[in-house]
Amino acid sequence: MTTAKDEEIEQKRGSFSSRRVFIFAAIGSAVGLGNIWRFPYVAYENGGGAFVIPYLVALLTAGIPFLLLDYSLGHKFRGSAPLSFARLRPGAEGLGWWQVGICFMVAVYYAAVLAWALRYTFFSIDKSWGDDPEGFFFGEFLQAGDPGVDFNVVAGVLIPLLLVWAAIIVVLILGVQKGIGATSIVFIPVLILAFGALVVRSLFLPGAAEGLNALFTPDWAALTDASVWAAAYGQIFFSLSIGFGIMITYSSYVHRHTDMPSSGMVVGFANSSFELLAGIGVFAALGFMAQASGVAVGDVATDGVGLAFIAFPAIISEAPAGALIGVLFFGSLVIAGFTSLISVIEVVISAVRDKFDMSRTGATVAVSLPMAIVSLVFLSTTSGLYVLDIIDHFINQFGILLVAVVSMIVIAWGLRALPMLGSHLSDGSVIDVGMWWRVLVSVVAPLGLLLVLGLAFWTDVKEPYGGYPGWLLAVFGWGVAGIVIVFGALAARAPWRDPNALLDPSLTSDSNQEKGQQS
Ligand code: ALA
Repeated sequence: MTTAKDEEIEQKRGSFSSRRVFIFAAIGSAVGLGNIWRFPYVAYENGGGAFVIPYLVALLTAGIPFLLLDYSLGHKFRGSAPLSFARLRPGAEGLGWWQVGICFMVAVYYAAVLAWALRYTFFSIDKSWGDDPEGFFFGEFLQAGDPGVDFNVVAGVLIPLLLVWAAIIVVLILGVQKGIGATSIVFIPVLILAFGALVVRSLFLPGAAEGLNALFTPDWAALTDASVWAAAYGQIFFSLSIGFGIMITYSSYVHRHTDMPSSGMVVGFANSSFELLAGIGVFAALGFMAQASGVAVGDVATDGVGLAFIAFPAIISEAPAGALIGVLFFGSLVIAGFTSLISVIEVVISAVRDKFDMSRTGATVAVSLPMAIVSLVFLSTTSGLYVLDIIDHFINQFGILLVAVVSMIVIAWGLRALPMLGSHLSDGSVIDVGMWWRVLVSVVAPLGLLLVLGLAFWTDVKEPYGGYPGWLLAVFGWGVAGIVIVFGALAARAPWRDPNALLDPSLTSDSNQEKGQQS
């Protein structure tokens, strides 16, 4: 039964009008740049068809269990990441702020990629890059200089970036249902149609089959390579939007008595399906490109920035109805990225609102303006591309994966809270979140992640990432990953504006544990 207290919280914090809207918003958050430009290449590079095995192992043993952990925290304690952790145990609040810091950093570069994609949607129409997409991207468009040498403003990036931030601020001021929920309900079907059309178009291009063969031919030997497993874990966490506090925040807006575990299965399945679809579409197009240029698929396949802004423009220039392919591809990137970016920023807004008892509009402006400024200052400059690449690499490994493993250990072993959280999830669900989940969250997932992190740490210490200058890696790589931890610890020391926030007996874990013991 929904209590008056539940209604009061929903009125104050906002809520999704139904489980369906929540599922759309969660899929909107999950499906993003990670699916379209990261997955196809990660799969190709790490064993092709054989990558399915580490991918599924990471999804089932760490991804879904951690997604459910996020849901249990947000839905039970009805708070942003810091508030939910603080209600679990006041000393754990810093974990939530660490996630808030991660989201700040991710938003700063994610917005820049959206700005580029927005620009390229229009460039596609007249193929503005001419005969040399690579030279155009680095030269005319980004005006990239040597890494870290200068930070001159690039107007061609600044203007679309301003537009992205303006749109983000409007949607987030509109709130949970009218902003995030409504955007997701409209954008997700549009994305499926646009991307579906792109995949169908790509499959009919000559050479598409070669591309698919390259992607799906299994290299079983890759399974003995630890870095392949590391890639699978990294992909799953970024792609499912877990370890950022996003799913804690979104599930805090879901009505009581909602079947959260089943919702999680739907979201996980939808996200992986989209990933597979992206792999098919992207590699079919790369197969065409390889055939047209008379080279192997491996010579045209690349990831991230290279895939979207160099390989795809080349395909668009060559393919029949290329402009359509371009608008569908870059338009899909913008839409998928937008619904992910709003979720990343909502983590910060929600935390600031809870802590300082602020209005939605006030918190949205207070949060988005500094983010937009940092993003404009660092990313719309001639060094923006390098800053983006470095932050992305380091914040994923030593931010998202690290906070995930630390929080699992703290919750499972330090606070021994899994039975209570599992029973909250099972209550009213068709899925019993019992022993299997506790074993995965307390042992299997942390062990897997610790191995992955150890390996990643060793690799980055041994060899400077990307061959960038040491100082640039120290500032934007190790520095940024470290700063968010320090920020987490400091922010947790600031007092709550509403001292009762942590005292509500219906929302703190101890009272519930007592209730559990009495019944
Ligand atoms: N989950 C989002 C993505 O895949 C962040 O891009």
